[in-house]
Amino acid sequence: MDLFSAGKLGSIALTNRVVMAPLTRNRAGEAGIPQDMNATYYAQRASAGLIVTEATPISAMAHGYPALPGIYTDAQIAGWKKVTDAVHAKGGKVVIQLWHVGRISHPSLLPDSTLPVAPSSIKPAGQAFTYEGLQDYVEPRALGADELPVIVQDYVHAAKSAIAAGFDGVEIHAANGYLLDQFLRNGSNQRADAYGGSFENRARLLMEVTQAVVDTIGLNRTGVRLSPVNPFNDMNDSDPQALFNYVATELNQFDLAYLHVVEGGIHGRGEAGPFDFNTFRKLFKGAYMANLSYDKARGNAAIACGHADFVAYGVPFIANPDLVARFKADAPLNEADSNTFYGGSEQGYTDYPFL
Ligand code: PHB
Repeated sequence: MDLFSAGKLGSIALTNRVVMAPLTRNRAGEAGIPQDMNATYYAQRASAGLIVTEATPISAMAHGYPALPGIYTDAQIAGWKKVTDAVHAKGGKVVIQLWHVGRISHPSLLPDSTLPVAPSSIKPAGQAFTYEGLQDYVEPRALGADELPVIVQDYVHAAKSAIAAGFDGVEIHAANGYLLDQFLRNGSNQRADAYGGSFENRARLLMEVTQAVVDTIGLNRTGVRLSPVNPFNDMNDSDPQALFNYVATELNQFDLAYLHVVEGGIHGRGEAGPFDFNTFRKLFKGAYMANLSYDKARGNAAIACGHADFVAYGVPFIANPDLVARFKADAPLNEADSNTFYGGSEQGYTDYPFL
């Protein structure tokens, strides 16, 4: 078995095991409605075994960057329908990544200029990307326990909206320092209630969200993404190995379509601490999707040795819409231009050449 073998993620049949990783591109306009150019971009990449869309806010309070596409209004559902139709017309499969940014936001990006919300009122170091440029993060408002069922319902509404938009499934984003990860790790969660303290308590919101989404759309088409040691967004935990070993074990109760794991730190922000991904992986009984700086050889090796069932590629898919064909042919890869990663037009988005 290798990257080019067919596979199944829950009920989703894939023609290969090369997955397009979620990539924030900030090209959905201020209204957060996917445009024709977004449909073109995803359709160009439909030969991936699976596309995981860019992280997508589940509510108005879930936004943390400019021009993100949402998945909670009828207009957004109609916009995403163009994307899923275009990908399916090319024989591709696509799931949407459901996102709440928590404290990684700014009042200027939120309704009524309200404060971002988080497990605890701990301000992250760093600056938010806003429509007015970079601005310091603010101290977020700690969510009351009575507000958490509303957030769970926002995930349910977004998951229903995703199915209405024609997605093959959803990925619950619990990685990279956003809301669900902020609950998991104790650098950002210092709650004294049933959602803070023990591993069980810190994982409670993720488990409640996962249960609610699975109950709504079925476990066969729900995945979860984790990033145990990613320091991005000012994240840390006092014992990530024990915490995430617990989380992987607990997630087994859902028989998920897959677990997607960022195996290190992203954006070169700080050193990712030591972590035994092999032990962690073995605790999870379902399909495992590995991500972070894999190339073709390392992807094939990870599948051959049983570490991964699927491998997700990020930056290579920005610059190579036909990444699977290039891997197959051992063809050279286009280089990605980081100046056009975030925001802008078709340039650096839909104009990378095919073989
Ligand atoms: C980013 O915009 O840099 C970003 C967004 C979502 C992630 C990670 C990074 O999960």
